[in-house]
Formats: sequence, C-alpha cells, structure tokens
Amino acid sequence: AEPEARIKILKDDTIESIAECINQGKAKKIIVMTGAGISTAAGIKDFRSPGTGLYDDLGKYNLPFPEAVFDLAFFKETPSPFYRLAKELFPGKYRPTLTHYLLPLLAKKGLLLRSYTQNIDSLEKMAGLPEDLLVEAHGSFATSKCIQCSIVSDSEWVKEHIMDSNIPYCKRCDGLVKPEITFFGEDLPSRFRDMAQIDFVDCDLLIVLGTSLKVEPFNKLITQVSPRCPRLLINREKAGQELHSGFDFDDKWKYTVQRDAWFLGDCDVGVKKLVSLCGWEDELQVMYEAG
Ligand code: APR
Repeated sequence: AEPEARIKILKDDTIESIAECINQGKAKKIIVMTGAGISTAAGIKDFRSPGTGLYDDLGKYNLPFPEAVFDLAFFKETPSPFYRLAKELFPGKYRPTLTHYLLPLLAKKGLLLRSYTQNIDSLEKMAGLPEDLLVEAHGSFATSKCIQCSIVSDSEWVKEHIMDSNIPYCKRCDGLVKPEITFFGEDLPSRFRDMAQIDFVDCDLLIVLGTSLKVEPFNKLITQVSPRCPRLLINREKAGQELHSGFDFDDKWKYTVQRDAWFLGDCDVGVKKLVSLCGWEDELQVMYEAG
C-alpha cells in the first residue's frame, strides 16, 4: 500500500520562542523585512489600509487607478500626480518610529545580517542604520535621473523643484527628471537582487514588519529562507499566507516544516515586546529618545 503521507508539523513558534532563539544565541544572522506599516506611526500613510491608506486617498489626483501614481507609462503622460505626492513624502519632515530603531539596535549587537525595506522615506538611515546593512528594494529619493537620457541630476536641485511644486525637466534633453523610486514596470535596484541571493541562504531568523506582502518580487523573499529558519511577522493583520503554500513539499513526505510566529498588532507594541523579552527595552528607548 502507498506509504501514508506522513505529516510532520513543527509547533508554530511564538514571539516568546523567537526571543528565546535570540537569547540562546541561535539567531546571529537576522534579516528584517519592512513595509509602510512601520512608518504610519511617523505620520506617513501606508498604501492599502482601508480608508487611511494612500491608495484610498489619491482621489484628489483623479488617477485612473491608485497605483498609477507609481506607473511609468502614466507618469510619462501625466507627471504631476507623482510630483505632488513626492512633495508630501519627501524625507525631511518625518522622524523614525520606535520600530525603526530596532534595526540599528540589532546592528550594534552584531546580529543584523541585512534589512530589506520597501519604504522610500529613508527613515531607516535617519535612525542610524549603516547603509551597507540596508537594501532599499523600491529605491529612494536620494538620487534622481532623467527618464529620457538617464543623466543623473543634482538631488538638491530636484528637491527644490519638487518642494516648489515645479516639475524638474532635464537640463540636457528636457526630459522628466524622476527620483530613483522603483515604479511598477521598472526593474528593482541591482543591489536588491545581488544581496538577496547571498543573504537569505545564511539567514537564521527572519523578522517581517508592517507589510501586506502583496507586492512582488519583494514578498517572495520570505520563501527564500531555509525551512528551518524561524519567521516572525509583526503586523496589524496576517500577511503572506498565500506565499506560504510555496513550502508544501510535493512528495511522499508531505510535511510542513516552516516555523512561523505572528504578533498581530501595532509594530511599536510588537517590537517593544520582542526587545523586552531580550532585555533590551531600555537600550531601545534610549536610542529612540536620542534620535
Ligand atoms: N503596526 C502594524 N502594522 C501596520 C501599522 C502599524 N502601525 N500600520 C499599518 N500596518 C499594516 C497594514 O495593516 C498593512 O498590512 O502594514 C501593512 C501595510 O501594507 P501596505 O499598505 O500594502 O504597504 P506595503 O506592504 O509596504 O506596500 C508594498 O506597495 O505600492 C507599493 O511600492 C509600494 O512599497 C510599496 C509596496
């Protein structure tokens, strides 16, 4: 008879068992993946929270569809909605949240392998995370290029134009100068692919903060870790379940080996709980207040 498919399910982890991993020195190559949910407490809208997310708020730009604001074809035709949004989002007026300080804290302890962010607010760097430990998967406002002749423009010059509600046209070819934010349809920065393919095999703890895990290829990163690498999601809602099916091994040993933990709630509350379980709560608070 067919050997019955044996289901070997490791008990699901909890934020407590994840903290135990860290306390026992079993997590020394931690990867942290972040999304807009870690910046809402800073006053920056996320994208998809019903009612409060940016995609529910773009009515004033009368877009054909919400994501058009980051769509290259639409931008070429109608650039002003993006520049108006860029003026709202431009780094400078927001401060990092308590959650952002988890990154430099882990880095200071030599436990952070890398932080992968989808955010373009640059708050990770503002919180003191060294740039070599950061991958900005969707780019940032730090540099700008002409979309026609690709010449790099002076970032201050671009910022002045955007903050004065003027469209920056290329000085050489009159094309549109765009901050290097990854638009839908554009390739992600090469650093993203280069680092992801070496980092995730080594990862021994994956922490995912404040993201709906709806956007590829970033969301697929959670399937790149070893099945034995614990994964902790801290988010207001469950995310990425449809990706987890990627772990089902389709052979006689039908088993689920991924160790997953969820903390469903605010990032700042979940992060505070995690670091207090590790005895680092005061350290984090001091960094946050000094920031
Ligand atoms: N604490 C915890 N979770 C939060 C908080 C908070 N304070 N605020 C929001 N969230 C959760 C929301 O419930 C949601 O699940 O964070 C998630 C944010 O999801 P999105 O708005 O989809 O943002 P994100 O996942 O970063 O979007 C990815 O989509 O449009 C593109 O390029 C854009 O980088 C962006 C990408």
